[in-house]
Amino acid sequence: MQIHHTIESLRAARASAGKVAFVPTMGNLHEGHITLMKQAREHADTVIASIFVNRLQFGAGEDFDRYPRTLRADCEMLEAAGVGHVFAPDETVMYPQPQRYVVQPAAAHVSILEGEFRPGHFGGVATVVLKLLNIVQPDVALFGKKDYQQLMVLSNMVRELALPVEIVAGDTVRAADGLALSSRNGYLSAEERAEAPNLHRVLARVRDAVRAGDHDLLKLETEAMAELAARGWVPDYIAVRRRADLQPALHLDDALVVLAAAKLGRTRLIDNLEI
Ligand code: PAF
Repeated sequence: MQIHHTIESLRAARASAGKVAFVPTMGNLHEGHITLMKQAREHADTVIASIFVNRLQFGAGEDFDRYPRTLRADCEMLEAAGVGHVFAPDETVMYPQPQRYVVQPAAAHVSILEGEFRPGHFGGVATVVLKLLNIVQPDVALFGKKDYQQLMVLSNMVRELALPVEIVAGDTVRAADGLALSSRNGYLSAEERAEAPNLHRVLARVRDAVRAGDHDLLKLETEAMAELAARGWVPDYIAVRRRADLQPALHLDDALVVLAAAKLGRTRLIDNLEI
């Protein structure tokens, strides 16, 4: 496996890499990322991963500074997973000057859910992903469903800007107790880690109730938020939405997903389940 710190070096390698599947990450990798790397291998001759903690997608007061940087351990995991190339630029490579040309995602897609609580977040994600796609020029790019709204925004960006890449979604990988794997789980204390699977449990109850025919979505959302609050969480939202655009469901036969974000102590966790 080769590690590239410059755009020139990555581009030279890409030229002879055949069909490429690309998995962008911010590092601090866990089994969820590695599952995505293995899935990527099924789509291409060569897998290219990137590791870059993207300042543009963090708001003031968020965890950009304390986000774990674990390049050496990450590269060992990537090599074992059969990744061919890692693009690990630093900020002087990705943003040699302030990034003035940026992607502005559709307001309807980013003023809701995560976008309401993290203004500017998806613009930062879309800008770095567009730049990474331009650098790597992959045939396929993979993103996890754990960040469901991110996947929706990026799929729409690729379609509306006619980018020559196929987006593939990876299923969320969970610990045995149901907690969705996330780099941010490392922030949890032992006590919080024991409580954390309740986010998945509460979502599963909403999913099961809707599947069983309970269509009072507002009641289900409100009860689920109240249960988390009673357990000491500070929920930002629990919402049943259409999968396609994450807008409120209008028809009972819409394909749905229930999404949640809630703070446990200092750590903000997100999760979702398709219904
Ligand atoms: O999902 C992530 O880790 C990041 O948002 C991404 C897609 C690598 C962009 O920085």
